[in-house]
Amino acid sequence: MEKIMLNNGVEMPVLGFGTYQVTDPAECEKSVAEAVRAGYRLIDTAQAYGNEEAVGAGIKSCGVPRGELFITTKVWFRSYETEDCRASLEESMRKLGVDYLDMVLLHWPFGNVYAAWRVLEEYNEAGKIRAIGVSNMEADRLIDLITFNRVKPALNQIETHLYCQRQAEHQWLEKFGVAHQAYAPLGQGRANEMFGEDAVKTIAAAHGKTPAQVLLRFQIQNGVAVIPKSVHVERIQENINVFDFALSDAEMAQLKALDTGRPMIGDAENPDKVEFAMTW
Ligand SMILES: NC(=O)c1ccc[n+]([C@@H]2O[C@H](COP(=O)([O-])OP(=O)(O)OC[C@H]3O[C@@H](n4cnc5c(N)ncnc54)[C@H](OP(=O)(O)O)[C@@H]3O)[C@@H](O)[C@H]2O)c1
Repeated sequence: MEKIMLNNGVEMPVLGFGTYQVTDPAECEKSVAEAVRAGYRLIDTAQAYGNEEAVGAGIKSCGVPRGELFITTKVWFRSYETEDCRASLEESMRKLGVDYLDMVLLHWPFGNVYAAWRVLEEYNEAGKIRAIGVSNMEADRLIDLITFNRVKPALNQIETHLYCQRQAEHQWLEKFGVAHQAYAPLGQGRANEMFGEDAVKTIAAAHGKTPAQVLLRFQIQNGVAVIPKSVHVERIQENINVFDFALSDAEMAQLKALDTGRPMIGDAENPDKVEFAMTW
């Protein structure tokens, strides 16, 4: 598995396994174990997904030592006050059955982000979290966070896919040395629209690959890490099988041209979506 060197020297797999909406405990445990068997080493979960215990069961039964896995979880924004954040981290480790975490992200840039960030710094400096980062954070707020804190975020996990490529945000992340990880790299429930694009179908046929593999490969060649989710073993295997081909410059340009520049799922800059998020 190819790895990305984070800004604190920790290495992170460029492709991992997403677990959002995998709420059935048995299905979650089985999917995580299947993913590790297929070669995934990064597992992405969150307090808000309600599946940390099942993810923990999956990593326990997968047969691969803890030290070879890279476990990411996220703190929910209602737990950003100092003591709540500490409690959230302890609960995540207990549920996952681990005594350290590889990556913890602040899930959304709402509420007391600064208090929560300083708790993440404390855990990072104590060696209980190897790398800390953010999610759904636009470049302006990220620059602010970097400027007024000790530890720079290692990662921003943000909606990124064919239709929302984050080309400008990517430049800012590169400039500040923050790794870019794509959530919903297959468009979440809307993968079929992307899979049906003529360019995607033609490129997939030319390489003997599937549209999903082309979309994941496209992100990786753009320098973006990916965490596709599936509960189907054949798709779990398909989604990791993206390291034996390369898109040409012309193919990359064709896919870049399909960017709409608009998020479809998470958008911390859209007041309608933020107002709705406040009800969560
Ligand atoms: N930080 C955040 O706010 C945030 C938000 C959303 C997601 N995430 C993380 O990012 C991960 C990935 O995002 P996501 O789960 O939203 O969406 P995604 O990975 O883009 O897409 C998942 C959807 O695509 C289907 N799929 C997967 N592989 C496929 C394939 N090869 N062919 C056809 N369909 C396929 C899945 O169906 P089946 O499962 O039925 O195969 C599922 O419906 C999440 O699981 C989560 O860990 C983070």
